[in-house]
Amino acid sequence: MALQIAIDGPAASGKSTDARLLAARINGLYVNTGEMYRAVAGAAYNLGIDPTKNPQDLVKLLPKWTLEYRLDNEKNTLELFFNDKPVDHAFLRSKEVSDVVSPVAAIPEVRDWMLQKQRDCAKLPIIIMEGRDIQTVVLPNATYKFFITASPEERARRRLKQGDFKDGTSLEEVAKQIKMRDHLDSTRPIAPLKPAEDALLINTDNMTPDEVVDKMVEHMRANPRQ
Ligand code: CDP
Repeated sequence: MALQIAIDGPAASGKSTDARLLAARINGLYVNTGEMYRAVAGAAYNLGIDPTKNPQDLVKLLPKWTLEYRLDNEKNTLELFFNDKPVDHAFLRSKEVSDVVSPVAAIPEVRDWMLQKQRDCAKLPIIIMEGRDIQTVVLPNATYKFFITASPEERARRRLKQGDFKDGTSLEEVAKQIKMRDHLDSTRPIAPLKPAEDALLINTDNMTPDEVVDKMVEHMRANPRQ
């Protein structure tokens, strides 16, 4: 079986940075499933669809859409394409998309549509997949499972520092948005955010990304796969 590493955790916990860094360290391929949900949310936003009031308007478009990670052989990275075009990363991280992504990700048909695409990625030799339900739903048999957390204050600070927000956005506003998304993600009936029973929990409050990756690699060395 391919080596599968599942990384989950709440918004702005640092898991994307850690997952990307781990992929570079062990020469693996990184899949950001949050970005996949953001791609669909971005398309809904551009069409003016309200995912809470009219989810069916979005659901009926799904069969017409394509979303896939393509391998860039030179860089040994995966690039996300929506309807055959590379996605616009800055737009997908904007407040507009962040505000609608959780309601979009709570639509059962959207999650079904994603599942096979995400499992197909996991067939690649070394895969590091990051999201909310990777260790519980998408890849429950992953070789290693990590659940990354950080305190709400630290997460708000990190997100603000990332620069996805308009100038002048306050820490409180960022914290409010993160809290709202955490609530929606962990209370939804389908695939809520939670650690798997056999996951290693890492609180990253006082850790640098390199230290987090050290800990993951240490855990993998101490638990070689059978
Ligand atoms: O970067 P950040 O942690 O803020 O969020 P993200 O990983 O880009 O994910 C955006 C949103 O997509 C989450 O808030 C979830 O609502 C949804 N998501 C999900 O439902 N399942 C996943 N496996 C990944 C993301």
